Order: sequence, then structure tokens, then C-alpha cells
Amino acid sequence: MPSTKARILMMLFEHPHQFISGQEMSDAIGCSRTAVWKQIKELEKDGYRIESIPKKGYRLKGTPNRISPEEILAGLKTEIFGRHIVYEPSMPSTQKRAHHLAEDGAPEGTLVISDEQTEGRGRLGRTWHSPKGTGIWMSLILRPKLSLNKIPQLTLMTAVAIVKAIKVVTGIECQIKWPNDIFYNGKKLVGILTELQAEENQAKAVIIGMGMNVNLTEQDLPDDIKKIATSIQMITGKPCSRAHLIQDIMKQMESFYHFYLEDGFGLIKTLWETYAMNIGRIITARNVNGQVVKGLARGINDEGVLLLEDQEGRIHRIYSTDIEFNG
Ligand code: BTN
Repeated sequence: MPSTKARILMMLFEHPHQFISGQEMSDAIGCSRTAVWKQIKELEKDGYRIESIPKKGYRLKGTPNRISPEEILAGLKTEIFGRHIVYEPSMPSTQKRAHHLAEDGAPEGTLVISDEQTEGRGRLGRTWHSPKGTGIWMSLILRPKLSLNKIPQLTLMTAVAIVKAIKVVTGIECQIKWPNDIFYNGKKLVGILTELQAEENQAKAVIIGMGMNVNLTEQDLPDDIKKIATSIQMITGKPCSRAHLIQDIMKQMESFYHFYLEDGFGLIKTLWETYAMNIGRIITARNVNGQVVKGLARGINDEGVLLLEDQEGRIHRIYSTDIEFNG
């Protein structure tokens, strides 16, 4: 059960431009008007700007620049994805925390979010730059009843869901770079890291980590990253509500996930190929054995594996290695 303070905050978020009277709040929550007033003062101490007019009530005027689980929950249109949020202003890595929570039995749809990561992890052992109050650093716990060879499809599903959510919330049309980077104008905007807890050939938990550069400015990016990365704010010139993006990503992911579990990979395959920037281009891929394969990216197959045709017309199956473009 959320605290009185959290419930007041949710009511304020649910009525963004309206006044809500102290009486209405105390009736809905089942506490005294004095208790409501005390919690409003607490919220102001936390950095929320709340307009208070006698006989009219309270109205939210501004929020502190940090992710608020109450704000996310107030506008969340899902059944299970993101319904249970574990939030802390700073964490070493949401991915690491999600692994521990999954081991302890956290339910499907649990979302771990932080405003800053001090040891953010990227793919292939890289670090992930996660400065405070700027991006979305979050990990979602899923518990699909799937065999292990199907798990990479969930990464492709996530990329498709995020591209759709970014378009809905910001209007930006991004592209996907194999296997799971989201790019805009040749620069990386989002990275996805899918990890697994398994028992025999079955997934016990899948942890989908998402790192999204939302309100980062040039100054937030170290020189080496500046050349290869961008952010939503750098593209549109204005800040974007992280809560709205999270809400829409959860919604898109939940609906694709249900569709996928019932009807298979077909829809995601088609959408992924539509958004992909690799298809029809000559690329070089390095496979897990360190072998370099160069050829034309033909598309993905029904398992979600990239198909590369070399000069001799042989088809190579590329799993989740990084690729480079050659033309
Ligand atoms: C990549 O290398 O492109 C994947 C980056 C994934 C970063 C996200 S941020 C939230 C989650 N926590 C982590 O430590 N990593 C992932």
C-alpha cells in the first residue's frame, strides 16, 4: 500500500492542471485534512512546487528534476509492466539490482530505476555513462516460459517497442542498428542489455536493461562519447518528460510481449526490419569465435538471427555481435 505522501502525489499528478481540495484528498485517502496538509509540506521540502489556495485546494506546479515512481504510476497504462517500481536516486547499476531482486523472486514486470548509475554496465563488458538526472537508466524483470534460444527475440522486441515509444512521445523517428542499439542520424541514443537467469534449458528470469540518453546536453557527454552518441534533448532542443517516455515504453513493451507470447515473432520481425538501418547494406560482423564475416545484410530469420550473404552467395547467421558498416 503506498504511503499517504505517495497517494497525495499521485492524485496531484493525475489532475495536472486542476486544484484538488484537502477534503477530497482526505476522503479518498482516509486521513485527516491536517495529515494532508503535513504531507503537502513534506512534498514541498522534497522540491515539489505546489500551489495552495484557500477553499480551492492544491495544484502541482513543478517537480524536482528526478524520476518519480508516483508520477510514472499515475499515468501508467499497463497491467503488470512497471506496476512494481524499485527506485533509488543513485545505484551502482539497475541491472545488478534487478538480478538480485529476480533471484529473490521479484514478480514479472518489476521495474528498477535510478536517476544515476555509478557503475552502469554496457554490452561486451563496456561501461555505460549514466549521469544524474538526465537519462532513463532502468531494468525490467520478465519471466517468460521460453527456451533459451528464443531470448534474443526479446531484445529485438524491446528495440521495436522503444523506437515506437520515442516516436509517440517525441515525434523522433529512430533506427535500429543490429542487434539492439537505437540510433538517430548516425549517433547512438539508446542501448539495450539483455541478461538471463536460467535453469537447464528454460529462462527463469530475463533482465532487460535500457539506457536512454534523454535530457543529456553536450556538457554531460565525455569527449570520446560525444562523437558517437546523442540525446533526445540534443535532437529536439528541448527537455522531454522521462516519466512519459517510461510510461509509453512500458505500454508498448507489454502489448508486444503479449502479442509475441501468443502469436510468435512474426510482427516483431516485420517491424524490426522496417526500423533497421542495416538491411540491404554491406556490413562486417565479428562472430563469437572472433571470425570476421563481410557481406550483404539480408534481414533476420524467424529466430531473430541476422542473415549475411557473402560474395560467394553463402548465408552466414550472425548472433549478437557488433557490426560495422562498409557501404
Ligand atoms: C549497450 O552497451 O549498448 C547496452 C547499455 C545498457 C545500459 C543500461 S542502463 C540501465 C541498465 N543498467 C546497467 O548497468 N546497464 C543497463
